Amino acid sequence: MSRPLERSDGALRSFCDSRLALEIDFSELDPSAVPVDLLQQARRIWQQRVQTEFRSIQIMTRFLADVLAAGDMLDVYALAVDFVQDEIKHVALCSSIVEALGARPLLPEPAEIEEKPRFLRLRAAERALSIAIAMLGVNETLSVGYIRDLRERCDDRVIRRVLDATLADEETHQGLGWEYIARSLDRFPIASLPDWRRVAAEALDPHRIQSDRALAAIPVDQRHLDAFPESNLAALGLLSEQRQALVFRNTLRDVLAPRLRKLGLLDVS
Ligand SMILES: [Fe+2]
Ligand SMILES: [Fe+2]
Repeated sequence: MSRPLERSDGALRSFCDSRLALEIDFSELDPSAVPVDLLQQARRIWQQRVQTEFRSIQIMTRFLADVLAAGDMLDVYALAVDFVQDEIKHVALCSSIVEALGARPLLPEPAEIEEKPRFLRLRAAERALSIAIAMLGVNETLSVGYIRDLRERCDDRVIRRVLDATLADEETHQGLGWEYIARSLDRFPIASLPDWRRVAAEALDPHRIQSDRALAAIPVDQRHLDAFPESNLAALGLLSEQRQALVFRNTLRDVLAPRLRKLGLLDVS
């Protein structure tokens, strides 16, 4: 049973809202204007986002602990703290949308994150680089692709402001993340490159599998973005799995693969 994600009130709530600069009026979102099926889909997807953003807080907290344990550069500590705070903001934004859509935001179950023993056996500097490649490199680059695609087409004021705020943060994360990856890779012997390639490939795999499945169901002559305009979904910040697969394909081809290739991290097998 999932537990609700609670908010506080009074001074604690004001501190959080001012620290995170949450100035969006979510009451402008009107769920009564949304068809029931679409409303349920929107609640489900934004609820999933609450949980992935919650995991992002935990992963970035792990990153903060690991860059400290690795004795990394001082500047990286500031970066990691900023990442943690931004991910808390993303949880707050997504959960405000869930509430505005008439549902209750839930914590992932279990709330505690389970780390793989193989990951825990790594040294701190290796864990930090693994997180940077998987989360800041692969996942954030793909997120920026999805959010940018939505943001260009979304005509709802509230959802658009949430997409704007998230996009600005994620662009910073992945930009600085790639810089950290490049610097951190230099600390490891060249012989370790296949291990880092595997980290990137494993982060990419779930996206690739999902995308391949969705693309296989689309007739070849329909495999382009114009075939899936879906403005009613975009207004709620949603993508069909077909459009998401096409955005994945384009982001991988145009942005992610060149960046990975430049660092020797693209698994070509
Ligand atoms: Fe996030
Ligand atoms: Fe992020």
